Amino acid sequence: MTPKRTRRARAARSSRRSSKPRRYLVCRASEVPPGTSLKFILPIDGFDEECFLVNCDGEYHAYVNRCCHIPIAMDWIDNQFFTADGRYLLCQTHNACYLPRTGECIFGPPGTPGKALAKVPLEQSDGTIYASPRSVQQP
Ligand code: FES
Repeated sequence: MTPKRTRRARAARSSRRSSKPRRYLVCRASEVPPGTSLKFILPIDGFDEECFLVNCDGEYHAYVNRCCHIPIAMDWIDNQFFTADGRYLLCQTHNACYLPRTGECIFGPPGTPGKALAKVPLEQSDGTIYASPRSVQQP
């Protein structure tokens, strides 16, 4: 490949890279009042992953919807993640409990406490919440 072609190929690759969205719109913050949640799909490493956003006393956090015990969705009842008292996130299959602010499991089947849900980094801008799939923190 000639130097000119190499530069063009590099520019095309760079253009393709930069045309990828760096963040994905999740919702307007006002759509998720305190103590509620919202599921959304996010492309992570080439796969569409189901994630969920929670509003914990005005703080927004998001996680991949996959329990640390068995890698299945946590909401047996669709979009219901909070415990009845609103203090924890609950996997409804075997009752693992997670801290909403960190995703750390504090109670659950053997081997689960101490593990954490995969956290999805969020950004807020003008009342809108965005998620960034590139830096999802795997447990
Ligand atoms: S699958 Fe979540 S606690 Fe067992």
